[in-house]
Amino acid sequence: MTPVPRSYPRRVHSGDSQIEIARMTSSDRDALVAFIATLPPHDLLFLSRDITHPKVVDAWMHSLDSGEIESLVARDGELIIGVTAIIIDRLSWSPHVGELRILMSPAGRGKGVGRVLMQECFAQALDLGLKKLVAQMTTDQRAAITVFEGMGFRAEALLAKHVADRQGRLHDLVVLSHDVQAVAARHELYGMSDACQEGGT
Ligand SMILES: CC(C)(COP(=O)(O)OP(=O)(O)OC[C@H]1O[C@@H](n2cnc3c(N)ncnc32)[C@H](O)[C@@H]1OP(=O)(O)O)[C@@H](O)C(=O)NCCC(=O)NCCS
Repeated sequence: MTPVPRSYPRRVHSGDSQIEIARMTSSDRDALVAFIATLPPHDLLFLSRDITHPKVVDAWMHSLDSGEIESLVARDGELIIGVTAIIIDRLSWSPHVGELRILMSPAGRGKGVGRVLMQECFAQALDLGLKKLVAQMTTDQRAAITVFEGMGFRAEALLAKHVADRQGRLHDLVVLSHDVQAVAARHELYGMSDACQEGGT
């Protein structure tokens, strides 16, 4: 069966709200900056890049255009409540690997939207021909590790004292991975692939 590429925007229910999931474009820049301002310092502390810096946001927008990053936004009305990024280095020795990042606004968490975004990213990874997704976080990000493990990611590597926080303290980094194609093949085997393609608007 030939997979149908994912179409956006899509709409999902979260409590009383209808959330729109769409591809991020450079027209989302201002809403993205407003979203970043809602993130608690502890979350920002452990992102590999300082997304509060305008130059980092500019580079993100540029990478959307060049295809190095695929990003989705989850919107509640005009407000962005969640973002994803799949970072791909096509000229590296791992063109089949995407690095997944996902961030929800504190008010949007715990309502199932993070899970929906992650599932969208798995579908995007398949569309992009990726075989593997990796996610990196410090070992003290216990909640995020639990969420990723619940979605089928497994710890694959531990890099000791790899991350320096803003105070210069060193933290261990865990690399979690997910074999997207194996999971998709299992879903197809159990007749779940059609369910993964539904919901486009
Ligand atoms: C990780 C994150 C994206 C999850 O988003 P979310 O919208 O809160 O997640 P959901 O409500 O969809 O929950 C997904 C699953 O994780 C579980 N979960 C959510 N928060 C959890 C927590 N704090 N501790 C343990 N499990 C948790 C939920 O129970 C759910 O499992 P279930 O579907 O089996 O019930 C969000 O918490 C976040 O942005 N964290 C900060 C950024 C970060 O650490 N990102 C990861 C590094 S890239």
